Amino acid sequence: MASSVQSSCTFLLATNHRHSRPPPSSPHSLTPAGRHRRSHLFQVSCKQQNPPPPSSEGKVDRRNMLLGLGGLYGAANLIPTNPEAATASPIEPPEFKACGAARDVQSGDLLNINCCPPTSDKIVDFKLPPPPAKLRVRPPAHRVSKEYLAKFEEAIRRMKALDKSDPSDPRGFMQQANIHCAYCNGAHDQVGYKDLDLQVHNSWLFFPFHRWYLYFYERILGSLIDDPTFVLPFWNWDNPKGMQMPKIFDNSGSPLYDANRNQKNRPPAIIDLGFSGATEDLQVVVNNLTVMYSEMIRSVNSTLDFMGQPYKAGDAASPGMGSSERGSHVAAHVWVGDPRNKYSEDMGNFYSAGRDVLFYCHHANVDRMWSVWRTLKTDVPKDIKDPDYLNAAFLFYDENKQLVRVKVGDCLDHKKMGYEFEKVDTPWLNYKPTKKAAKAKILKIAAGAETVEALFPLNLKKITRVLVNKSAKGKADEVLVLENIETDTTKFIKFDVFVNDEDDGSVELDKAEYAGTFAQVPHKTKDKKGKSTISLRLTELYEDVDVADDDTVVVTLIPRSNGDDVTIGGIKIIASPPRSG
Ligand code: C2O
Repeated sequence: MASSVQSSCTFLLATNHRHSRPPPSSPHSLTPAGRHRRSHLFQVSCKQQNPPPPSSEGKVDRRNMLLGLGGLYGAANLIPTNPEAATASPIEPPEFKACGAARDVQSGDLLNINCCPPTSDKIVDFKLPPPPAKLRVRPPAHRVSKEYLAKFEEAIRRMKALDKSDPSDPRGFMQQANIHCAYCNGAHDQVGYKDLDLQVHNSWLFFPFHRWYLYFYERILGSLIDDPTFVLPFWNWDNPKGMQMPKIFDNSGSPLYDANRNQKNRPPAIIDLGFSGATEDLQVVVNNLTVMYSEMIRSVNSTLDFMGQPYKAGDAASPGMGSSERGSHVAAHVWVGDPRNKYSEDMGNFYSAGRDVLFYCHHANVDRMWSVWRTLKTDVPKDIKDPDYLNAAFLFYDENKQLVRVKVGDCLDHKKMGYEFEKVDTPWLNYKPTKKAAKAKILKIAAGAETVEALFPLNLKKITRVLVNKSAKGKADEVLVLENIETDTTKFIKFDVFVNDEDDGSVELDKAEYAGTFAQVPHKTKDKKGKSTISLRLTELYEDVDVADDDTVVVTLIPRSNGDDVTIGGIKIIASPPRSG
């Protein structure tokens, strides 16, 4: 299947610096000067300093403003403290003994919490037990049985009870929540690089880390109720039937309940995965399906586009999110987080997300999306073969309180880990948006559109139409590249990209002309400037809109938030680059 364009909700780090990892022949210690410390710790909270102006067309919903993406910046003294590390490239598991303070990742504020795990002298290399004859089946949360719910609640109740009986028990509810804080809010350094934070988001570690995290969480819950077949449920937000917060989490008498949630988004509110701001339920649902189709298929031009960018030993944190992480994943965090709280706790911030049981249910679906993606018959290879990916490792406590070391390469196939997902419909799978614009109108618009030379570099103050040359006539396999997008990193920035569309700024995303989104959440940088480039694959869009003999298309750029603070260096269409990661 021809595939891809950019995801519809693209939380790019505006300062996606190129890594300065030296070539393999040159030891790190010889080239520290060119390295920067830039740990963009994406956090899903943060006070919005500059709320976007209300706009009559395609407004950015205010809850988008709760999303923050931050960075801590320190001195660029990155001489490895461990010379061995200079030649080892996979990310190593953290040293728990060296765990330090956690910070809010946007403001850099020290958080008033110690989220370091208990230490242990004995670390065991984890070996997956042979999978059970019958795999455990994770159910969708919106249709679990009474018996299942009772077990789930009891397991969580016991986990919470451990917090009281022994707060240092690594299986306890808070200890488990703190795992996320320590791995995501700068408490762990990269081994050998004490000035680099370890960060499990915004890179290719995103899926594997969370898969292992849930794996042990599930085993601990199972062992607390003496049921080794126990599984977590998944929040089926990619299916219209699951697009509300699952009701089992909304009962205030249940241990699954969390008062720290956005009250507006309790059932029956429908999640808005594309930050579209649409107000009609039906429109939100079709937008969601479009977002899913886009981030799973249409937007994905390469393995790393989906998985996230390479992150190796000695690299600054957060090289870049994959389409799913920055799309539906971020959206659900932001949507659930409580705007009444300073850092949008619980789900709206890394450090606190794990205090809401819904987090694990959300991530069970993120995990499911990875597994569904691997079965898709698209032209994008599904596996990353780089040993630095496969050998990256983490530490977790297992259900026997044993500290274990796990490797990314051992979690690629969830069936080998003993579980699968209950089959549910995936209505987004063939959710090809349809063409809405008429050819005659497009010709008229094209006649009035200005050229790239006349407009760029472009400050995106207003809706802009530009005529862009194709690399080849008609339906070629092509990518739209928006180069050197410079942003003010203290602002929430979002703009949408449409190709051959007649309409200026609708809240509808479910149309073929929709090519993708750029978004940046506010975060700290030294000079408040960020620069990035995005590619939107057009191949499938061409199938659906009429470009039969055209050498040019009209690209419409629609600022949704703080367009004044965006300058796009250039725009071009090129032949699609190779897809393998
Ligand atoms: Cu580790 Cu959804 O965040």
